[in-house]
Amino acid sequence: MSDVLISPSILSADFAALGQAVADVDAAGADMIHIDVMDGHYVPNITIGPDVVKALRPHSAKPFDVHLMIAPADPFLDAFIDAGADFLSIHPDAGPHPHRSLQAIRSRGAKPGLVLNPGTPANVVAPMIDLVDMILVMSVNPGFGGQSFIESQLSKIECLRKMIDQTGRNIVLEVDGGVNPQTAQRCISAGATALVAGSAVFKGAGTLSDNIQALRGPCAR
Ligand code: DX5
Ligand code: ZN
Repeated sequence: MSDVLISPSILSADFAALGQAVADVDAAGADMIHIDVMDGHYVPNITIGPDVVKALRPHSAKPFDVHLMIAPADPFLDAFIDAGADFLSIHPDAGPHPHRSLQAIRSRGAKPGLVLNPGTPANVVAPMIDLVDMILVMSVNPGFGGQSFIESQLSKIECLRKMIDQTGRNIVLEVDGGVNPQTAQRCISAGATALVAGSAVFKGAGTLSDNIQALRGPCAR
């Protein structure tokens, strides 16, 4: 049985009806709502800001899993927390002081996360692992939905699983990018406890509920 958390990325939803998309994936069984924030600077795409997160907040009571792909992130942390972010994740290379950023997120009562790009090694997390509630492994280069899963990230997930187990803390190990029913099972086997999926949920073959359930795997509850 898999208890993996599914966090649909609304990057693949209809941007003209985002509130409805959030409500729909909530009703379809999502455990969290993944919100991709891009600035056209840290990544080559622009998406949404804190006002949109705030507008979406009433559409679901599930945790908002906000993934910041912005540099610098520090000037906007408070705005995203005030807007309703539960998990707030930063890329450690998006500013000079990721340790301080994580402290700031925690001090405001949100759950800090660190995001590792495909080219970023697992051990970047080591000096900050006590400060995080989530580690997010990018299995594509960030910026766009619909890309192919990068296989080399599976060994990084295994490595991070061991690092997390050594802490004895309940840190969410999430994977983002190219997650579909096939790659999902490999991520879970490698030790992931949460999966982000945009295309596979919003553009999959079945209903939203079918698509979410397919990611949990054939033996899921
Ligand atoms: C990419 C984003 C992902 C993206 C995943 O930069 O962080 O969350 O939406 O999309 P899929 O599931 O289509 O790969
Ligand atoms: Zn993301």
